[in-house]
This record gives sequence, C-alpha cells and structure tokens, in this order.
Amino acid sequence: MAKKTEVKDYIRTIVDFPHEGILFRDVTTLFADPRGFRMAIDQMLHSYAGERIDKVIGLEARGFILGGAIAHQLSVGFVPVRKKGKLPGTTISEEYKLEYGEAIVEIHDDAIQPGEKILLVDDLLATGGTAEAGIKLVERLGGEIIGCVFIIDLPDLGGRKRLENLGMDVTVLCEFEGL
Ligand code: PRP
Ligand code: MG
Repeated sequence: MAKKTEVKDYIRTIVDFPHEGILFRDVTTLFADPRGFRMAIDQMLHSYAGERIDKVIGLEARGFILGGAIAHQLSVGFVPVRKKGKLPGTTISEEYKLEYGEAIVEIHDDAIQPGEKILLVDDLLATGGTAEAGIKLVERLGGEIIGCVFIIDLPDLGGRKRLENLGMDVTVLCEFEGL
C-alpha cells in the first residue's frame, strides 16, 4: 500500500455497494486512522480560520462524527439535523429528493438563535439535496450559514454548483469522478 499523504488516500472505495454499479466512498477508514482523522478535521476548518462561528450543524449520520470533532475544536456547540422522527423536542422539517423517493430531515426549533453564524458539515456532497434541506432548516430558524464543508465532492452530481447557486461558500477536501 502506497504511503498515505492526503485525506483522499485514507478513503476506501467499495465496489457495488449499496447496489451494483455504485462505487461507495467509505470514510470509516479515514475516521479510524488518527493521522487521517486529524488531517481531515484540520483541513475542514482551515478556510474558516479567524471567522466567527457560533454553532456547527452536522447532517446525519457521518456529519455527526465530523461536526462533533469540529465543534469541539472550535469550543462551540453542536446541533444535529436528523432523519424524521428521531429528535424528541419540537422540530421543523424539510423534505428532499433521494435517488428513489423522498426523505425528511428535522432540527429542533430552538437549536439556533436568529443571527447565529453557522458552519454546516457533512461527509459527502452528491446531488446536494441533503445539504440544501439542512441549509433551509438553518435559515428558517434565522441562522446565517457562513460555510458548508464536506470531505468528498462528487462533481458529476452537481451538488457543489447547486449550493453555490444558493449563495453558499462551499469547501471540499477532495473529489471523486463518476458516481
Ligand atoms: C449520504 C451522505 C450525504 C448524502 C449526500 O448520506 O452521507 O449525507 O448522502 O447525498 P446528496 O448530496 O445527494 O443529498 P445518506 O443519505 O446515505 O445517509 P447517512 O449519512 O445517514 O448514511
Ligand atoms: Mg449522510
């Protein structure tokens, strides 16, 4: 195995998961490596050094792992955006499209105060549908998103352009061509 020097080197590709024809980009190998995980967190924060960030929002599920580490590093609070039915308090929700059908994500309605500066975090940007739903939830609560940060972008699926068209500042650590 070649020496790992970049974040991308720690990501494993699983062929035909979850169905035939899909190359699944598996970040568990990155998370499991102390050097790789720290490198990823440091790089995700690099573009936002010196900026005011009041809260980190993580998108279920891998965004929780990254968002928790980033919030800890910044000494700010962490807020989860979860799939429907998981949060116990009063929530607001957004529906978004999946490859087949729709999904719904939710946030506690008291999790963000108007005017708070928010960093939105997830592992992977594909179509951008999940991130857009998270953005809408934050904005409905009056939060101001200062950036959206991901480890992986799949540029062929157009998520980055979609978020940039919403006026978002998007940071990704690496790209994989194809689906
Ligand atoms: C994956 C990934 C992102 C999302 C990106 O999550 O972790 O959250 O898809 O896709 P999109 O840009 O097309 O919306 P998934 O929905 O598989 O759920 P999980 O993170 O809970 O496993
Ligand atoms: Mg996800």
